[in-house]
Amino acid sequence: MSYEFILTEVRGDGERKTGLITLNRPKQLNALNDGLMNELGAAMKAFDADDGIGCIVITGSEKAFAAGADIAAMASWTYMDVYKTDYITRNWETIRAIRKPVIAAVAGFALGGGCELAMMCDFIIAADTAKFGQPEIKLGIIPGAGGTQRLPRAISKAKAMDLVLTSRMMDAAEAERAGLVSRVVPAAELMDTVLAAAQNINDFSGPSVMMAKECVNRAYEGPLAEGIQFERRMFHSLFATEDQKEGMDAFVNKRKPAFKQR
Ligand code: CAA
Repeated sequence: MSYEFILTEVRGDGERKTGLITLNRPKQLNALNDGLMNELGAAMKAFDADDGIGCIVITGSEKAFAAGADIAAMASWTYMDVYKTDYITRNWETIRAIRKPVIAAVAGFALGGGCELAMMCDFIIAADTAKFGQPEIKLGIIPGAGGTQRLPRAISKAKAMDLVLTSRMMDAAEAERAGLVSRVVPAAELMDTVLAAAQNINDFSGPSVMMAKECVNRAYEGPLAEGIQFERRMFHSLFATEDQKEGMDAFVNKRKPAFKQR
């Protein structure tokens, strides 16, 4: 399928591969308009439904992952326009519902909706050129796609307040120290690092990958006791899979496991 605002390709050489999505509005620094968000949701759903895909990666350009929601498109909207249509954020629930792991590969600016999109991914690997921020306050608005909620969970209330209230940007080193990104690598190594991480995940058992994601999200979104109980049930259920037999037999017999379940 061809898209106007994104590029999609399948990468990797294992049995299961990686669905790579590149945001592609370079002149607008990948500003997230409605069309782009629609296409992103559709592409992610298609990869999620494809048994040949184990992981999804979202990336942008060297200069910008995404510089936020499209300000030019939003400028003339009224309250009722945005309220009635749930403008810009209406497509974002699709991304949240993706069940396979999603990695954000961030170089350059990840601002406003761009930072929020990166935070909706399961983890962020950043180039040393990455810059994160929620500068909406400069526009007379506030973050509208989860920024005020996900940032404090990811990096503490103090740092979240600092970014949201002052509009300052955080560089990659600070973002790693704060816990927003899982790794920082030289810009030239970003895609190799991210695709290797994705392939690593692709080679594991599908059910355990999916359940691991679900369990970590429980920790992020709910109370501890409920999360522990949920994890325990998921853990038990994996003993019903062939891949659990394969993984443990491979360990005991000192061979590489060949996971089969998608
Ligand atoms: N929307 C629309 N167009 C954008 C854009 C955005 N968010 N960000 C950049 N652009 C466009 C610029 O208008 C410019 O277009 P022209 O060449 O036609 O003038 C082009 O991209 C290049 O941008 P700059 O010339 O500004 O590049 P720079 O290197 O000098 O600055 C920047 C880069 C610091 C990222 C700056 O572009 C900027 O501040 N962008 C806006 C960031 C922002 O405020 N994001 C929040 C948006 S609101 C939001 O996201 C709400 C939400 O929570 C959902």
